[in-house]
Amino acid sequence: MPFERPRGTNDYGPEEMARRRAVEAILRDTAHRFGFREIATPMFESLELFTAKSGPGIVKELYAFKDKGGRDIALRPEFTASVVRFYLSDLRNLPKPVKVCSVGNVFRYEEPQKGRYREFTQFNAEVLGAPPLQGDAEVIALAIGCLRAIGVKEVHTRIGHIGMLRAFLKVPPEDQATVLHALDKRDFPALKQDLARLGLQNLEPVLREYIELKGGPEVLDKGARLLGGGGAEAFEYLRKLAERLRAYGIEHVTFDLGVVRGLDYYTGMVFEIDSPNLGAEKQVMGGGAYTLAELFGGEPVPQTGFAFGLDRIVMAAEAEGVKLPTPRLDCYVVPIGEALQPKALEVLRTLREAGVSADMDLLGRGPSKNLDYANAIRARFAVLVGEAESKRGAVAVKDLDSGKQEEMRLEDLIARARGPAKP
Ligand code: HAM
Repeated sequence: MPFERPRGTNDYGPEEMARRRAVEAILRDTAHRFGFREIATPMFESLELFTAKSGPGIVKELYAFKDKGGRDIALRPEFTASVVRFYLSDLRNLPKPVKVCSVGNVFRYEEPQKGRYREFTQFNAEVLGAPPLQGDAEVIALAIGCLRAIGVKEVHTRIGHIGMLRAFLKVPPEDQATVLHALDKRDFPALKQDLARLGLQNLEPVLREYIELKGGPEVLDKGARLLGGGGAEAFEYLRKLAERLRAYGIEHVTFDLGVVRGLDYYTGMVFEIDSPNLGAEKQVMGGGAYTLAELFGGEPVPQTGFAFGLDRIVMAAEAEGVKLPTPRLDCYVVPIGEALQPKALEVLRTLREAGVSADMDLLGRGPSKNLDYANAIRARFAVLVGEAESKRGAVAVKDLDSGKQEEMRLEDLIARARGPAKP
């Protein structure tokens, strides 16, 4: 093999690409139904946009290089920093709240394994300028709405709040970052070391117990007790959030005080969705409320959002056997004999011009091989162009799902092909 794909990248064949596009279309449509509008930002940005506040986890995974003009550039590892940059330069002039979504490739120099790649696709949504409770409920409802629309059911949504931990640590944000990073990775030796460096070794047992708290509203009381009454406002906020989510039809939320998130900019509610069918890399979505605009020198504005890993939702849908609406070829045109090639091409052209997807053999194969091919590519109808039918201004149409064959005029075939196809 002369060339191999770079480590951590993927090729996607036609079947897989059709599934990815189907999921992407559902995500875009759902966001649109929730009033989000699509934007796009560059695939590479100034390196410092990401080194400013994304946190050590992301910085050491950046694909960074100098361009020919000597500028420090990085491939985007996520969308949030770019969206906030764009918000501060232009989008803040739009009516509030600004609700935007994007889909595209992102790059992280990670150790590749199943579900963890160096190039992958995210579907990202952000709300800027809505009051926190309203904004947070809206993004959580959108994330859950997306999974419902795809048909993925076996998922766990876990909601936490990073504010309690930040308040509890009572150290500057840079020091909070290293402790939170160790907690996020459940790296307990690093946690011990870091707390010792900060003279906070006595907090270790409390923190370890705190991040294990998961369940209904009762865990909020337990968490508050553990933190000695600290973070009361944030616990109250999560109660109100659960109440608001009920009005969205989201009845049972699981609070998880161990949701810490790997990125440094989160300051409020944080949430994650897992698909237990995916093994080690089971997190299909992560998000929360953050304060990047201020750190980039802008006016404070409430900011909240999330990103789905597209590769992982497609895998979760496949694992649950979800039938995705992938497009099928409507008609495969089969000339019955060499002499009917021109007539078959005319039929092909008419179908295509009528907006029906249609294809025809390019290899000069006979009718029976052509039918095998039409079945193999899961075409809906084989359109047999024969001498006798042509004389009657018709074609023979074989429904490849039912096996039934009937003669019909081209107009009738077009009307039938425009109707719904089986998935
Ligand atoms: P994140 O948790 O770093 O958050 O990434 C979001 C999702 O991208 C993850 O839940 C996962 O499904 C997927 N993902 C992450 N790394 C990989 C990888 N190496 N291979 C395949 N999929 C991966 C963010 O990126 C935040 N910007 C989300 C956000 C938006 N927060 C607020 N607004």
